[in-house]
Amino acid sequence: MLRPMRESEQPLRQLADSVRDAGHIVVLTGAGISAESGLATFRDPQDGLWSAHRPEDLATPEAFARDPQMVWRWYEWRRARLRSVAPNPGHYALAELQQRVPSLTLITQNVDGLHQQAGSRDVIEFHGNITRTVCSNRSCPGQWHAGDQREPPHCPVCDAFLRPDVVWFGESIPVAAMQASLAALAACDVFMSIGTSSVVYPAAGMAQQAAANGAEIVEINPNATPLSSAADIVIPGPSGEVLPAVIKQLDLP
Ligand code: OAD
Repeated sequence: MLRPMRESEQPLRQLADSVRDAGHIVVLTGAGISAESGLATFRDPQDGLWSAHRPEDLATPEAFARDPQMVWRWYEWRRARLRSVAPNPGHYALAELQQRVPSLTLITQNVDGLHQQAGSRDVIEFHGNITRTVCSNRSCPGQWHAGDQREPPHCPVCDAFLRPDVVWFGESIPVAAMQASLAALAACDVFMSIGTSSVVYPAAGMAQQAAANGAEIVEINPNATPLSSAADIVIPGPSGEVLPAVIKQLDLP
């Protein structure tokens, strides 16, 4: 017997239909997709990272020049948090979705590596990765070695400070990540924005670029964002529940 569809299921079904028909999907994720793994987002008014600290004090080249030890320690604290968490059902559902559609490009603003741990392939790390360490003199290939306990450690090649391999405010997006993202945005027919507040550019401009190329715009986020009113499908829920539900919906007739 057919079960009547609840009103809240309608966008889910609509999304599943779009996913079934899509040739190329681009997914952009933000801190919200890792929230259900236990990692704080940035802008949650209660426990967001930017509710306790100002980005200018911790996530800019100027902050690192002013107080390299404080910045290094803050990233060490985040790395330690990361070691105690694991991907959640939202990460796994995206990895599964990538297997089930002809083409899916996953772009993440997250620096936590959880998408890769869940099995997603060819993830574009738009803001770098916190687990990697590079020389602050970007043209130098120096790498951290375990013996150096200084905070921050020094580059074994040029003696400059080492730093986390992330993009700070005021820095450019890595060229390869930007180029791959632009190419995917130009080719996609569905664009999904998941767990991001859509306020930090250039990532926040991706939906508009995809829409200009004719893509359908989807947002999954329990809270409204500047993108919500422009999106074709909005599913206001936590990604760890919504994304597995989308996968389930794909299996329904
Ligand atoms: P934000 O903290 O700005 O936004 C997180 C979003 O996730 C919010 O819109 C929440 O409503 C949403 N959210 C919370 N829990 C969720 C859940 N369970 N499922 C789905 N969504 C949920 O984080 P980002 O948008 O990622 O940049 O921030 C963008 C950039 O600003 C970051 O990459 C970082 C930051 O400053 C740099 O450090 C350069």
